[in-house]
Amino acid sequence: MRGAGARSATCEAAPNIALVKYWGMRDPSLGLPFNSSLSLTLDRLRTRTVVAFRDGPGPDTFRLNGAPVEGPRREAVTRFLDRVRALARTTAGADVDSRNNFPTASGLASSASGFAALAGAATAAAGLALSPRALTQLARLGSGSASRSVLGGFVEWRAGSARDGHDCYATELHPPGFWPELKDVVALIADAPEKAVRSADAMQRSVATAPGYRARVDAVSGRLGRLRRAVAERRAPTVFRLVMEECDEFRSVCETTRPRLDYLTPSSRAVLDAVRSLNADAGETIAGYTHDAGAHVHVFTLARDAGRLRRRLADVPGIARLLTLGAGPGLTVLARPGAD
Ligand code: PMV
Repeated sequence: MRGAGARSATCEAAPNIALVKYWGMRDPSLGLPFNSSLSLTLDRLRTRTVVAFRDGPGPDTFRLNGAPVEGPRREAVTRFLDRVRALARTTAGADVDSRNNFPTASGLASSASGFAALAGAATAAAGLALSPRALTQLARLGSGSASRSVLGGFVEWRAGSARDGHDCYATELHPPGFWPELKDVVALIADAPEKAVRSADAMQRSVATAPGYRARVDAVSGRLGRLRRAVAERRAPTVFRLVMEECDEFRSVCETTRPRLDYLTPSSRAVLDAVRSLNADAGETIAGYTHDAGAHVHVFTLARDAGRLRRRLADVPGIARLLTLGAGPGLTVLARPGAD
């Protein structure tokens, strides 16, 4: 007979920041993207999730940072667990307890770390042994960017072209220790609004209405190839330039989507301006900004220039905090069934 906790597992995962963005699905039911994307999994920020399957069927429970969650976010967790239950041939209900060591409402991609940690903990608790590749494919069904958070360091999520998605998965390009000098200085914007539209819905609006969407999909694979090479050779100025080019294109697709998608606040825009003027003053590209579907701005720079960048950003009004992050590990299993 199984002991208490025999069907429980604990996993941790971190958010990632996309250097080349995923924005739009060719098949929303399978979570298959139009284009491949490239990201860096971050250190210090972690989501820790415990999944415990009960003995019989019944509604799942979901606690986030100690508080019970109801409504669409709990339903998303249940839909995700349904996929795991189908794989494991079980109907058991589950109790999910998830904690972020960073503010969930801060918009720091908690869905990526959240669904990566959930994929790991739910499959381990159900007794499934999935390969890392299969885990990236499963996590994608919770949130596209979660597929990249399964892995550490630089990660490429390949769009693939097969209808059934078998060639769509994330793969590690370089481990977390590959480029220790590279830093991500995150400007947390004080008045960042809560997300009005889920990214998965917002991006499909861009697919349908943004005039430049198709041109972007065509341009992105060339940019991804250039970025992959620049990262492999640790050519910082090229990486920073390409990251800004990509971010500007992503923003312009959002701003030409109908209804318009506007994620930045005046403070976020002031951060972009501060980075442009820092580069102009330096006479070379020593920093590169990017942002996701939110107001916070990530600025890549080398460790030797991080102090100068932080001092420049200190003058920007409306920044709540600056975090200096590096590359971090992917999904980590902390406890699995039978280990207690
Ligand atoms: O994974 P989602 O559904 O939260 O969408 C993520 C979209 C962006 O963060 C804007 C881009 C990306 O590639 O992470």
